[in-house]
Amino acid sequence: MTRSAPNVLLVLEDGVDARPIEEALPRGTHIQAARLPDASHPALPLKDVTAELVLVACEQEAEQALELIETASREIPGRPPVVVLFVGSPNGIMQRAFQSGAADLITLPQSHADLSFALEKAIARTRGGSKGTKTGTMIAVLGPKGGTGKTLTACNLAEALATAGSTVVVDLDLQFGDVGLALGLRPTHTIYDLAVAGGSLDGEKVDSYLAVHPSGARALLAPLRPDQAAAVSTAFLRVLFETLRSRHEFVIVDTPPSFSPEVIAAIDAASTLCMVGMLDALSLKDTKIGLETLDQMGFDPADVTLVLNRADTNVGIGMDDVERLLGRRPDVLVPSDRAIPRAITEGRTIVAAEPRSGAAQAFTSLARRFAGASKPVAAAAAAEPESRRRRALLRKRAG
Ligand SMILES: Nc1ncnc2c1ncn2[C@@H]1O[C@H](COP(=O)(O)OP(=O)(O)O)[C@@H](O)[C@H]1O
Ligand SMILES: [Mg+2]
Repeated sequence: MTRSAPNVLLVLEDGVDARPIEEALPRGTHIQAARLPDASHPALPLKDVTAELVLVACEQEAEQALELIETASREIPGRPPVVVLFVGSPNGIMQRAFQSGAADLITLPQSHADLSFALEKAIARTRGGSKGTKTGTMIAVLGPKGGTGKTLTACNLAEALATAGSTVVVDLDLQFGDVGLALGLRPTHTIYDLAVAGGSLDGEKVDSYLAVHPSGARALLAPLRPDQAAAVSTAFLRVLFETLRSRHEFVIVDTPPSFSPEVIAAIDAASTLCMVGMLDALSLKDTKIGLETLDQMGFDPADVTLVLNRADTNVGIGMDDVERLLGRRPDVLVPSDRAIPRAITEGRTIVAAEPRSGAAQAFTSLARRFAGASKPVAAAAAAEPESRRRRALLRKRAG
């Protein structure tokens, strides 16, 4: 579908360089440039302005800028959203800008690619963004400690959900991601290649960077080397997640054990969270802190599914202790199983390798929580031929 060129009002405070902003706007954008009204620049006749987006670029917490944000978002016909581009640290102005009615705040300077992403997104939002388009469930798999089973959970969820709908797993452990290894996928393209490819991120382009797993799930794999992680910006991730959610029913994000800016971007974009803890005293303490942090970030605890991995380990901690410590019962318990490391060595999930094991059943029930009861998830589908086989065997014996 072709769309008309964007129409943007760019208001600049004296001293702010317009060029990087103009160059970052989509090609063909109709830009009306104006100066922030002050003693030497008259007030803008806002009622005559036609713009779908207003950009106010400033480098001081100028009263004129705040006033303009307030009046522009009220007086320009159609009430276009106002996005503030602030040079430097926005600590002082952030709150006041939003109070004045700003829709978003972008800090400057930024790389050309990052600024382009941010502005493209602002324009897309004014045009209805994802309104009318499908928005898939996005599950961020979190855990504040390494080795608790986040990657295991993300990969098994991907395998189990692939039968319920189009599924993508994103490896956001940008330095040491191992989703590719766990799923036996070759990293022909990675998230790094996509981040440095340049140009705008459309669905088809993103899809061409996804590896395809035998289950049908797709995977956006982690960079091959830790130094490539820096190329993956949060601005890029925000657009990436939105693009993936518009095309796929389930987007699963595997994360590193920290609340890094990338992980926070994933949490912000996610529709639901899955916290993975392990049954030992240290992991439980970190899980508790992780849950509290999500609570402080404003995430409704009801939107956080709690998985307790290696839940059958005999470490002298009972389920009542867990509940007392975490303030809630885990939603899904995954037992320890030696078949898990064996399956990982073969690049297979436990859901595919041992579909009837307790661990596979746990991941299937986790997948069912996200897919809803009506959609088939993998272990259930895998168990079916097995039962048919058993019936056939019994018939043979009876005959
Ligand atoms: N329930 C389990 N039973 C047996 N081994 C497990 C289990 N959960 C995790 N592991 C082992 O621990 C390793 C680390 O798990 P992983 O999912 O990579 O953790 P994280 O992504 O949280 O760092 C896995 O490679 C696997 O060998
Ligand atoms: Mg991991």
